[in-house]
Amino acid sequence: MFYQWSLVQTLLLLVSGLLIWRYVQTNLLSPLRHIPGPFLASLTDYWLVLIDLAGFRTLTIHQLHSKYGPVVRVGPHEVSFADQASVNEIYSQQTAFMKAPIYDSMSVKPFGIFSLRDKSLHSQRRSLLSYAFSQGNVTTCAPLVHAQISKLVGKVGAKEGKSVDVHLLFRLFSLDVVGELFLGSSFGGLDSEGSPPQFLHDMDQHFLIGGIEWNFPLIYALLTILPIRGVRHFLAARDRLAEYGENAYRTYIEKYGRDSGRKDLLTKILSPKDESQTLTDRETYVEIGNLVFAGSDTTSTTLTYLFWELTRNPQWQQRVRDELQSMAKEDGSSGNARLLGATDAPVLEAVINEALRLHPAAPASLQRATPVGGAQLGVYYIPEKTVVSAQCYTTQRNAEVFPDPDMFKPERWLDDGQSSQESKDLFMPFSKGTRACLGRNLAMMELRQVTSALLLKYNVAAASNTTSDSMAMRDHFLVLPKGGRCDLMFHLL
Ligand code: HEM
Repeated sequence: MFYQWSLVQTLLLLVSGLLIWRYVQTNLLSPLRHIPGPFLASLTDYWLVLIDLAGFRTLTIHQLHSKYGPVVRVGPHEVSFADQASVNEIYSQQTAFMKAPIYDSMSVKPFGIFSLRDKSLHSQRRSLLSYAFSQGNVTTCAPLVHAQISKLVGKVGAKEGKSVDVHLLFRLFSLDVVGELFLGSSFGGLDSEGSPPQFLHDMDQHFLIGGIEWNFPLIYALLTILPIRGVRHFLAARDRLAEYGENAYRTYIEKYGRDSGRKDLLTKILSPKDESQTLTDRETYVEIGNLVFAGSDTTSTTLTYLFWELTRNPQWQQRVRDELQSMAKEDGSSGNARLLGATDAPVLEAVINEALRLHPAAPASLQRATPVGGAQLGVYYIPEKTVVSAQCYTTQRNAEVFPDPDMFKPERWLDDGQSSQESKDLFMPFSKGTRACLGRNLAMMELRQVTSALLLKYNVAAASNTTSDSMAMRDHFLVLPKGGRCDLMFHLL
């Protein structure tokens, strides 16, 4: 009895000692001690990890900024920024802030462009891939994208007047587009009548597996040795994805060769302008995997929230339609057949920008590591290896720059009100600087073409089960509507 009591006492003493030491380290000695934030955050990363797993990381950090101001300590070694100067410093073209180690958990090795953290390796890869994504090359691919849009419009037409889950439909569409552009054939999502392709499930699981492996390595290690079929199938999602990519790539090469001139983006990657930059087969299909991930749910989530907002603001459906119809009259085209550029249809552009501002598909902190020697950000000295970030969900809701920040107001993009340097700096749905989205041209083409094709044919309304509550944001780096779906109804004009 005496022995047991003293063991408990020793343990208690040890735990208290550790807690006190932790407090001294993080709150009395740390150079971050003057940065405001919740007390728990200063002690442990786990409070934010748990919030993240529940899908509330971005909203929580947003609320912390409302409470504490533009600089918030969100972890013992992590700080979130929302002011223009810091955002420009962290995400500039010349930045010394590289992607933080957490990006290792978002891909499997060998890493592709998204997860490459080394500056020179990344810039080599980026210069090779940028050529493929130039506006000219993206325009060349338009016929392949249009073929998928026709299928999408057909799917919507088959359910005319009835409720259709556009969240799923847009996911299938954007996945099929990247399939066509990077793998030589779609995933067959829009052709299937039954359940969505396994690839889509595997993609969802890939992120979950990465999250467990990164945050709870012991649990992950345990899962890998559990002889339970369901768990093994779950963990094998990553292998299935890799296998799918490799097989599709090999089939592409057999079918079209390496220099087929097919009007897709893989051809451009396979035959770069500078031949010395050619990637190995393995590097190529790793990149394809990256591009399939980066280019599918981002575009589909944007379309989902854009159409949902249009149902809540039907006057903007009509304004876009009027604009497209008068353009079509002027140039004799059928409106949606015309390839739209950024300045062609300002109302359409304003509606898309407003959806990207209010509902960015990647709203979360884009974490970066402070360089060797540390850095001065505003009034704070940030020591090296601290994780710093900004989240566009918050920068794009800065009420001084975007008045009525929680309202869908496309007019803000029409009256020159958003042309200030501050609004340009804080509007960053595609991020900024060296790590900005590579697929922006492609994404914008898809958003313009899909929106115009559907609005020129249909009026859109929300089904009764699609509400502000069901569409509330949950985020696991990318956004998902809380209800997991978005049922809308399309009525022929
Ligand atoms: C509306 C649609 C899209 C949005 C909102 C979006 C947003 C973003 C954001 C915020 C980043 C930075 C991520 C980070 O720093 O962690 C990013 C990076 C990237 N995106 Fe997109 N994206 C979209 C569509 C696409 C498409 C269609 C593709 C290509 C098929 C693509 C390819 C990439 C790539 C390769 C990167 C990594 C670039 C690098 O690290 O150098 N994205 N995107």
